[in-house]
Amino acid sequence: MPPKVRKSELLSALKSSGTVSGAQLARKLKISRQALHKKVNALRKQGYEISGRPKAGYKMKAARGVFIAEEVSASLSTRRLGKEIHFFETLDSTQNAVKELAAKGEAEGAVVVAARQTNGRGRMGRVWSSGEGGLWVSILLRPPIQPQGVPPLSLVASLAIADAVESVSGANCALKWPNDVWASARASGGKAKKICGILTEMSAEPDRVNWVALGIGVNVNNPLPEELKRTATTLRALSKKAVDRQALLGRILENLEKSFDVFYAGGFAPFRKKYAERCLWKRQRVTLSDFERDVEGRFLGVNEDGALVLGLPGGESRAFYAGDVSLSPIANRGTK
Ligand code: BTN
Repeated sequence: MPPKVRKSELLSALKSSGTVSGAQLARKLKISRQALHKKVNALRKQGYEISGRPKAGYKMKAARGVFIAEEVSASLSTRRLGKEIHFFETLDSTQNAVKELAAKGEAEGAVVVAARQTNGRGRMGRVWSSGEGGLWVSILLRPPIQPQGVPPLSLVASLAIADAVESVSGANCALKWPNDVWASARASGGKAKKICGILTEMSAEPDRVNWVALGIGVNVNNPLPEELKRTATTLRALSKKAVDRQALLGRILENLEKSFDVFYAGGFAPFRKKYAERCLWKRQRVTLSDFERDVEGRFLGVNEDGALVLGLPGGESRAFYAGDVSLSPIANRGTK
């Protein structure tokens, strides 16, 4: 893992002021002006755009978008999640970093955030585009439950994230089974597109879970590659303004901890109704693809394990535990 970034005080000071003189800043941070200049240059090397010189004063460009992990930790009222947030400018994948923390024995709740990922991973071996401006996070969990009880955890997470996104941005969220969050602009009620994906990786023995790496990718203020724009969007595009990633992460961690407390004690059952109500494509004809076959049916809901329940053409209903769901275009023509 690259060395941890410990520069939050300087970043916070630059973020909270417009142009600030070197003398003022050095006084505030209790360092010499020379030491301050060195620190500012180190930040510049890391990609922060800071104009000015000690005498003229410093000014940080795009200061509002700067992510300061310590500010998030300090604002949290959680007991476990996010008390320690490890922030990096660049990582291959936050999943790899959080697994390293797991191997070192860190407790539940450690969080890794990267400003950008060079090898972001999605479900089913897909690439996850992770440019600057998005929220790329992995959370270390140590659920005190049996390994077979873990799969609905990501459904529970998607519900908590959808609530957080709605409260922090101007978007309406829906859940795409199993664990995507899709959103549309609140004002327009337009077509929903993907804004968040969740990747859950786990290490377990037959009767206990060692760790779960809960990877969350939210398209916030990041650019999206052209080929994704048909099905994905960003919160900035929906809200028509930049969305505060720190506030969003804080709300996500608060919501997740509350939900996990309930989930660890009572499984998916307490979430089933709310989850099903917020699903995309309820009662519509969908196709479930698990890469071996495509099954078409009517989306009836989710069962107590979080499995997708489809009504099949013969009248039988069946539960599916994995796969990708899409709307069946031909089957839905004229049936709404
Ligand atoms: C998906 O929808 O396929 C899941 C995408 C998960 C992306 C996140 S970004 C943070 C974490 N690190 C990764 O490499 N992947 C997850």
